[in-house]
Amino acid sequence: MSDGGQRSYGPLGTALVIIPTYNEAENIGLIVGRVRAAVPGAHVLVADDNSPDGTGKLADELAAADDQVHVLHRKGKEGLGAAYLAGFGWGLENGYGVIIEMDADGSHQPEELPRLLTALEGADLVLGSRWVPGGRVVNWPKSREFLSRGGSTYSRLMLGVPIRDVTGGYRAFRRETLEGLGLADVASAGYCFQVDLARRAVQKGFRVVEVPITFVEREFGDSKMSKDIVVEALWRVTQWGLKEHAGKLSDKLAGKPRNK
Ligand code: GDD
Ligand code: MN
Repeated sequence: MSDGGQRSYGPLGTALVIIPTYNEAENIGLIVGRVRAAVPGAHVLVADDNSPDGTGKLADELAAADDQVHVLHRKGKEGLGAAYLAGFGWGLENGYGVIIEMDADGSHQPEELPRLLTALEGADLVLGSRWVPGGRVVNWPKSREFLSRGGSTYSRLMLGVPIRDVTGGYRAFRRETLEGLGLADVASAGYCFQVDLARRAVQKGFRVVEVPITFVEREFGDSKMSKDIVVEALWRVTQWGLKEHAGKLSDKLAGKPRNK
């Protein structure tokens, strides 16, 4: 973030859209079709946690009919973070230049993906953002908006990251960015995985850009947000924040300049 826009960026390479799924049978066909139509050059990887509703089987059928659709079957429900880490590993191994995170339920509109990719031409990481001017949310209950805005604000202040939507899950990474984040020691299981990655990107000095998106609440199926996910996020963000502050304070006491 400290390059002042001076850095030059290479061409983007082939994009892989990772879609994590747990019980998204009503959504998976729709979302894969929309991605393929919106960005015909991109590939799709469905990362399914052995959904009891048969999402994995539907994804297999999509993959059988289309060379650009792939499926990663996982043993069971281990959380969004674990599914993404497995997907990132697959994408890096298979040589993709850009790796994208997208929910299966239509909240992240594939038709907005070209704008994220254009922004990535001059950035290391692009975040689809609900809470920057031009960003918005459609059909969310007030309680959910309050939780998301509150979580983002708490994380921003606690961690000192200059990002308005730090919990969002519509993102585009250059492969070099993922390779530089130190993914091997990411322990976040639930949605705080998103905060963890954003925080790491800022700490490592990557150029992070927020692009406004319209987040549309799902029509089919249920959110997997739970009390456990909120509790994990709260304690992890608090822990990271306290560590960061303690580090700064001890450097100050020792008269050292803080280097990240
Ligand atoms: N494989 C796998 N395993 N997928 C999962 C799991 C899991 O344990 N939990 C959730 N997912 C998938 C869902 O199937 C969906 O495709 C996506 O992750 C997002 O889950 P939702 O349950 O629809 O999330 P949300 O709408 O409540 O939350 C949104 O806001 C969060 C907070 O801003 C998402 O955009 C999250 O990414 C975001 O962190
Ligand atoms: Mn959702």
